[in-house]
Amino acid sequence: MADPSHFLEYPNSMYLAVIEALKAETFPNPKVGAVLLNKNNKVKAIGHHKGKGTNHAEIEIINNTSIESTDTLYVTLEPCFHTDSSPSCADELLKTEIQNVVIGDIDSDKRTSGKSIEKLKNNGLNVTLIEGVNNFVNPNYNKKNYGDNSITYIGKIATSDDNKIFDYSNSSKYITNSESLDFTHLLRSTVDAILIGKNTLITDNPQLNIRLNPLSHIDIYKYVLWGNDRNDIEKYAKKHSEKLFLTSFDNKLSNVVNINNLTFENLDSHMKNQNINSLLVEGGNYVHKLFISSQIYDYFYKFVSENTIIEGLSIDKHILEYLMNDMIQIKEIQLKDNSLHIYN
Ligand SMILES: NC(=O)c1ccc[n+]([C@@H]2O[C@H](COP(=O)([O-])OP(=O)(O)OC[C@H]3O[C@@H](n4cnc5c(N)ncnc54)[C@H](OP(=O)(O)O)[C@@H]3O)[C@@H](O)[C@H]2O)c1
Repeated sequence: MADPSHFLEYPNSMYLAVIEALKAETFPNPKVGAVLLNKNNKVKAIGHHKGKGTNHAEIEIINNTSIESTDTLYVTLEPCFHTDSSPSCADELLKTEIQNVVIGDIDSDKRTSGKSIEKLKNNGLNVTLIEGVNNFVNPNYNKKNYGDNSITYIGKIATSDDNKIFDYSNSSKYITNSESLDFTHLLRSTVDAILIGKNTLITDNPQLNIRLNPLSHIDIYKYVLWGNDRNDIEKYAKKHSEKLFLTSFDNKLSNVVNINNLTFENLDSHMKNQNINSLLVEGGNYVHKLFISSQIYDYFYKFVSENTIIEGLSIDKHILEYLMNDMIQIKEIQLKDNSLHIYN
């Protein structure tokens, strides 16, 4: 695995807490991870929330170690203020010796919403905020708390330095480096489903799984936007039985789903019926243009390599225009010789 400190430019301990958070499916609760460091910055305890009705990440830490005043707690989301099926984590932390807490984001849950941070500070604790951590780990969380039941759509594309998305002369399907690939797998582990287009399946044969330790057990929905072609569907749907094929026609195979006319609205409503809250679209031109025409992306990740491609497929100018005019670049991260541009 690549050096984790490259990812998202969080301190290494917050990155560990992110990985910890992503280990469990906790719906309808957010995924939360926590790491306790001692005064020498050595990991003393690590924990995550495992699902509704189980301990919060902070309680896992409190139960598993003896916290000293020189320790620092990293947690991906503001500790809860309220008592629910779990006690108030803010109150439980105040019963310990902890003095230093680094928090991933203010909790948009109205019952907490900054109140724990205030309480910890009022009790003399040093509280540092690193914004964006929980938004990355739980991309749909804020929408849900604000009463918006729309799916969070995340676009992803990889290009060469000269804006090519496919190299006709290279047998490797990868344009970007192994750090970008690791980041893509991390991104996959934050969503409920991934979607690609038909020709991408045929030319690139992607597995669409998560190949990043220790998250490789995570299983998410894998969609192929197949289209109208009835001829080859059975061959590919049988070969890729773990993927769901979205079509405009019925077929007896259980992984072929007719979503009628393949409109974005029908696709969106199919996903909602499956309880999918976040979708990563790993498209090329055709697929991204379909989503862009509905102005739907909440985030977009563009990985750019430093290489040029002499004979290749160029990114569609509508995608570049969309990123420039309709989204805002919120972050640029260097991944060795690649750069990652994150838009919101
Ligand atoms: N660099 C990158 O990040 C990246 C990522 C993904 C893909 N790519 C490359 O980009 C190229 C194409 O990818 P792409 O995402 O543009 O799409 P695609 O994989 O070519 O899928 C588009 C095809 O899917 C079918 N289809 C899907 N939805 C449909 C609908 N609503 N109505 C009708 N037909 C529909 C159509 O097939 P028919 O025409 O047969 O009906 C259409 O041509 C590939 O070469 C791939 O390697 C690059």
